[in-house]
Amino acid sequence: MKTIEQTQVANQIQNKQNFKVEIHSQHKRLYLVTIREEILEKFFKEVEKIDLQRLKYVEFERFYLANKLDKLVGDNFSSVITGILKDREHGGFSLNGNSKLSNKTNFIKLSTAITHCVGKSMFDAMTGNYYAEFAVKHTDESDTYLRSAYKSLHLHSDGAYEAEIVDWLLMMKLDEQNAVAGNSKLLHIDDWEEQKKYSKNPIGQEKVKRQGAKSKNVEAPQYRPTFFEHNGSMGICFAEQNIKPENMEQAMYFKELFHSIEQSNACVSLHLPIGELVMLNNLFWLHGREPFKKDEKLYRVLLRQRGFFVN
Ligand SMILES: [Fe+2]
Repeated sequence: MKTIEQTQVANQIQNKQNFKVEIHSQHKRLYLVTIREEILEKFFKEVEKIDLQRLKYVEFERFYLANKLDKLVGDNFSSVITGILKDREHGGFSLNGNSKLSNKTNFIKLSTAITHCVGKSMFDAMTGNYYAEFAVKHTDESDTYLRSAYKSLHLHSDGAYEAEIVDWLLMMKLDEQNAVAGNSKLLHIDDWEEQKKYSKNPIGQEKVKRQGAKSKNVEAPQYRPTFFEHNGSMGICFAEQNIKPENMEQAMYFKELFHSIEQSNACVSLHLPIGELVMLNNLFWLHGREPFKKDEKLYRVLLRQRGFFVN
């Protein structure tokens, strides 16, 4: 039997005056949200004078963008996308931000409006801003797989080492040149064949030390369980590089868990064109990236925002 929340979301698959919601063609659990192009243009024009520095320095301006977008789109747009993210059956959507006024600044403004329709973005210590913008190129000298173009960025949830719980994340493709492959990888943990095997193992319930790489600029470690109760279902906190096992038993558990999720047949590859964003509930979705095809001129820029829901 469907819950009230699920029924509400199911009813939202329809055309509203200025936006529509439909099932995504690349993933049965994802929605595709489309805002009418004229509304996007109107939004970009109305917030033209707010530059990115102002958004970085003044938090209420981020909410101002969200308020503007929500009013222009209408039909409870904020509640609809928040409902999608909280819905366990789905918990994610993609949205195309392209219009005649497409450019990097406008993509960042749109992503900011979307995240602040839902909640609030966290400070990203890696970049010293409320969002991170990172390029993947042919060469890489960083200390994580995030920018290693030709290696798989394995499935993980975000923010295991952060003091605050990351409820959701947004990723938006800002630019791409000479990029072949490198699709996003997505796994809803209710589709993972061995979820119960690993979540019921006592090690999965233990608090484990989590610490980010040096480039993340977060020194204090966090101690978190890998699996936890979330609204009557299972939540997950897993990122291979952040786990600091205490003993061989823990280490072997995580090694096997890692292989189990990486080999899951339910992992879906998602192509994200320039100007499109994907937003996911971080407590029951895992994400990663496939390797790119080698090219000395490879250049791809992704924007990331992470945050929490605000009632
Ligand atoms: Fe991530």
